[in-house]
Amino acid sequence: MKIVVLHGQMHKGSTYNITKLFLDKFSDKNPEITEFFMPKHTPGFCVGCFNCFTKGEDACPHADKVQPVVKIMEEADLIILESPCYVFGMSGQLKTFLDHMGYRWMPHRPHEKMFSKIGLVISTAAGAGAKKVTKDLKNNLFYWGVPKTYCYANNVGASSWETVKPEKKRQIESEVTKLVEKISREVCNVRPGIKTKAMFRIMKLSQKSNDWNATDKEYWIKKGWLNGKKPW
Ligand SMILES: Cc1cc2nc3c(=O)[nH]c(=O)nc-3n(C[C@H](O)[C@H](O)[C@H](O)COP(=O)(O)O)c2cc1C
Repeated sequence: MKIVVLHGQMHKGSTYNITKLFLDKFSDKNPEITEFFMPKHTPGFCVGCFNCFTKGEDACPHADKVQPVVKIMEEADLIILESPCYVFGMSGQLKTFLDHMGYRWMPHRPHEKMFSKIGLVISTAAGAGAKKVTKDLKNNLFYWGVPKTYCYANNVGASSWETVKPEKKRQIESEVTKLVEKISREVCNVRPGIKTKAMFRIMKLSQKSNDWNATDKEYWIKKGWLNGKKPW
């Protein structure tokens, strides 16, 4: 099983340690794990040039940093996005990376391989906001076409992993174990559900009448998706 992780931070606090717990518990699956840490792997801020949408992803001024990550994500069975909660949102550095994935959203040029992957999104907050972060991360994966995403949000009541109470850590460990069992059963065996199929259908109708972006339209035509072929 191939796992890719986009860490929304460089430091090894609560969010990292919980993510590591997940990765350790997948060890019996002999996973091939690739990890990216933001901002080390974050491209420059999106400059709003629209090149990715209208000229293609390689015309993005930051393609050299974006595309190596994208290629690894395309090959992964499980995509993990994680971030601490910063003022009720994900970290800016992760958001900056995700902005560069706009061209891969279903209204534009989703990659067919995304429709058979599982997502896992993880966030921690001190008191409130972790759920909001996982909701936003899951939303990104949904629009990339990922049909099934598990969320793990925990308001850890601490500003560092060291100060998270031992009983809280035990509770986290037990929740992570249960989630890993679920994900292990489903990974490499997912199919789009009704919501993903419905969204794809709406986007297909939109592409049929698309007279505003030839790059997107040609992509859909080339894939055969406007003639009934499905990406899954
Ligand atoms: C800039 C900043 C903003 C934060 N915003 C929130 C917040 O909105 N809600 C909250 O409960 N905790 C907030 N926190 C606390 C962290 O989300 C919390 O301590 C988290 O567990 C840290 O994860 P980490 O150890 O992986 O860095 C914030 C921390 C920082 C540094």
